[in-house]
Amino acid sequence: MAEELKIGVLASGRGSNFQAIIDAVTAGKINAKIAVCISDVKDAYALERARKNLIAAEVIDPKVFQKREDYDGKIVETLKKHEVNLVLLAGYMRIVSPVLVEEFPKKIINIHPALLPSFPGLHVQRKAIEHGARFSGCTVHFVDAGMDTGPIIIQAVVPVLQDDTEDSLAARILKQEHRIYPEAVRLFAEGRLSVQGRRVVIKGAPECRDEFLANPPVRE
Ligand code: GAR
Repeated sequence: MAEELKIGVLASGRGSNFQAIIDAVTAGKINAKIAVCISDVKDAYALERARKNLIAAEVIDPKVFQKREDYDGKIVETLKKHEVNLVLLAGYMRIVSPVLVEEFPKKIINIHPALLPSFPGLHVQRKAIEHGARFSGCTVHFVDAGMDTGPIIIQAVVPVLQDDTEDSLAARILKQEHRIYPEAVRLFAEGRLSVQGRRVVIKGAPECRDEFLANPPVRE
């Protein structure tokens, strides 16, 4: 029998993507257990969402650690304590060090609010507007040692409108994040993702494409 998928979520803020994952697991769309939510921010709302859903919630304060590597060592220890075998970054606002990446190779997934490889880093919705991009979107990708550089699993596209503010664009993108993040985790849970070089191949891709066409991003 295949090993049970046990998810550990790292989140720094409100955790709406975490909620989308909780909802998909609860609805039986993802065959996995969410074992723990870890935050670097003690009052992150994501922790509240974990408690409400009877998921272990842990705070690890980065200030207690001298080096990023030491902090990530504690994260690894906590994930292992909960027997995690898939790590999801859900609005986790810290750069992960090799200490964490090497412990979970191709088993850490992130959601990023831009169409990578354009606009890695922070404040990317504002950067897309300032740059005059006509389209932006979101990317679910495996995490490697670089910043937002890992193999891309799924993307969704939204238009950038003439009168968009950072907030209005972020809201349009977020809606798509909540759609594609659980979808990517489902594909992982079903063993349908393989990484070849820097590309992700999805088993049964035509079927997947049909699903995306059935849910095209809507223009508001
Ligand atoms: C989301 O837009 C996510 O893509 C972004 O932060 C937001 C978190 O929202 N993540 C990053 O920018 C990672 N560098 P949430 O806490 O409601 O899921």
